[in-house]
Amino acid sequence: MANPDELLAKMSPAEKAGQLTQFFYFKLPAGAQADPALGLDVEAQPRAVEGELAQGGAGSLLFVTDPAEINRLQRLGVEGNPHGVPLLFGFDVIHGLRTIFPVPIAMAASWDLETIERGQAIAGREARAVGIHWTFAPMVDIARDPRWGRIVEGAGEDPFLGATVAAAQVRGFQQHIIAGPKHFGGYGAALGGRDYDEVNLSDYELWNVYFPPFEAAIKAGAGNVMTAYMDLNGVPASASHWLFTEVLRETWGFDGFVVSDANAVRNLVAHGFAKDLAEAGARAVTAGVDMEMAIADPAYAHLPAAVEDKAVDERVLDERVRKILEAKVRLGLFDDPYVDEERAREVLADPAHREAARVAAQRSAVLLRNEGDLLPLDPAALGSIAVIGPLADSKRDTIGPWVFDFDLDETVTVLDGIRAAAGDKVTHARGIAAGQRTFPSMFDMFGNNAPTDPEGFDAEAELARAVEAAAAADVAVVVAGEWQNMIGEAASRSSLELPGRQLELIQAVVATGTPTVLLVMNGRPLDLRWAAENVPAILDIWYPGTQGGAAVADLLFGAVSPGGKLPFSWPRTAGQIPMIYSHTTSHEPDNQARRYWDEESTPLFPFGHGLSYATFRYRDLTVDREVVGTDESVTVSVEVANESDREAAEVVQLYLHQRYGTASRPVRELKGFDRVVIPARESRRVEFVIGPEHRRYWNAVARDWVLDEAPFDVWVGGSSAADLAGTFEVRAG
Ligand code: BGC
Repeated sequence: MANPDELLAKMSPAEKAGQLTQFFYFKLPAGAQADPALGLDVEAQPRAVEGELAQGGAGSLLFVTDPAEINRLQRLGVEGNPHGVPLLFGFDVIHGLRTIFPVPIAMAASWDLETIERGQAIAGREARAVGIHWTFAPMVDIARDPRWGRIVEGAGEDPFLGATVAAAQVRGFQQHIIAGPKHFGGYGAALGGRDYDEVNLSDYELWNVYFPPFEAAIKAGAGNVMTAYMDLNGVPASASHWLFTEVLRETWGFDGFVVSDANAVRNLVAHGFAKDLAEAGARAVTAGVDMEMAIADPAYAHLPAAVEDKAVDERVLDERVRKILEAKVRLGLFDDPYVDEERAREVLADPAHREAARVAAQRSAVLLRNEGDLLPLDPAALGSIAVIGPLADSKRDTIGPWVFDFDLDETVTVLDGIRAAAGDKVTHARGIAAGQRTFPSMFDMFGNNAPTDPEGFDAEAELARAVEAAAAADVAVVVAGEWQNMIGEAASRSSLELPGRQLELIQAVVATGTPTVLLVMNGRPLDLRWAAENVPAILDIWYPGTQGGAAVADLLFGAVSPGGKLPFSWPRTAGQIPMIYSHTTSHEPDNQARRYWDEESTPLFPFGHGLSYATFRYRDLTVDREVVGTDESVTVSVEVANESDREAAEVVQLYLHQRYGTASRPVRELKGFDRVVIPARESRRVEFVIGPEHRRYWNAVARDWVLDEAPFDVWVGGSSAADLAGTFEVRAG
């Protein structure tokens, strides 16, 4: 068995720097154009990387997903390295590799930890089968500003939900590959929601809000952590000794390796922080960044010189390299670095993976509104169904952003799904033109471009055709939202309005008088003020993945009931951002404060909101003790009755509030949840244990974690507006 210390003793500083360097290896689809903004020479880059491999100058590659290619490059790496050290292959396996699951924000909306863990275990299984050892996921950044496009990659606004979902994802991935929670830390709080813009967060917010998902991911055993691009309180996060050494390793005991975000070490020069590449490399490696992810010309290539000049102690290099070698040993790469290509094909085709993706899409949908119980639809009772909107039949949009190895042929769109269930009763009209971005996405070069309209598309005639189809149908299903390349990395928006003429389309369909269902395809909240008053049924289907359309049909026609809940407060309009449910209060009565002249100060839909086809009643909340010691736990239980004739899942949520103490505490905070399936006409008792870990918080004056003696309110219900209440008091001794 390979021994990292023995290997280290034989390695030169240049070989060590090689182990600490990860290169992109881009092979673009035929005809693809590289984004000039990336400064990428499509021809020269792979050749240069292969040159590095031939002389042991790389420890890892990213962006290769073809098992034959991985084997070829691995052979170059192993044979080129004087000590036979194999390469680590990393990739962004965010919500599936070949089988695409709903986007991460959707998975979080399921509040279903088993489904989340299973989804990432399948993603990890497919990845490992093709030769990928490590994913740059989960993204566990808290997002409280939906203008920021990367809200789609995370679990939303709440640290408790975020931490729980982060741990489930890590458990899933790490059944097969290394998970790398990212981007440490505070990346989601960029000014104005502009990606990579600076972040200024108090310690109070970092410890109470932004760090908990990272700590949970580390506790779940994550083997890697990725840095963040932006300045955090005036220092580039990617060179923060405080983040990567003091917090991550010394406070949380992280034992894995840290990778920089792509080119983030080089960018220390762009930040105006390091004077040149050499200094950038020296400062990042000293801060605790083990591996540099680079497109070309890595800063870590200067580390051997830095060792010679005594700018970097060689023991620091050894510590970093040891982490990388340990990961390779643990993965068994020294024993067998290659993959079985035939087996990879079998794993990628596994029908069980598709079935799991379909279940995940069912469970992540959120029923926002259902006036007059318009849903579920009964296909037998309907003569015709008009399916409307350009997103209804767009395969590429159905699977969402941040996927690369997808198979569009097998992707089931909403139109496909409805047709499979309701056959020739279905008519379809796009209604409006496909959405176009005003600038190309950096992902366009991977075939992720915006959709285009069919030849001869006439926008005015098409709108008229959609209205006609709606008028002639018994029910209209409009699919509206954002084109998938409007969201994700470097895809911020200054407005939450439905892009293009989609609102006009919805209004025209509703004006026909035909009962209308709105399916929202999105990764961030959108301005649905008009729809929330005028469209009777609204179902948030997110970007639902490979089996999305099949799952949507299951939901529309009532084979299953929606049970998802919002992982963020849904603002009415962009001007309300940021809007969180767990705010503090300063006035009595509260509605005199936090007012806008021109808009309500409440969200359109509260955090945790989501309806069901069943009716749930919450009753009999009990708290097992009135007084509890500071270090003790209290048990809260509640009965949830399903008063309908159909089985359905409900996410039972517990919120906590400390009435007073050594700091003002939020009006309520999520501290427990449980997704339970309750058969028709039955009830279940759901129990939550609230321990000191749920009551402690980081106090800005004490500059430490505190546990106050205080009375607490507790609510349990189906959203953050839960009103079934109880109390208990915490007293020392
Ligand atoms: C993103 C990371 C991603 C990396 C590699 C960066 O631009 O910020 O989240 O893992 O690229 O694709």
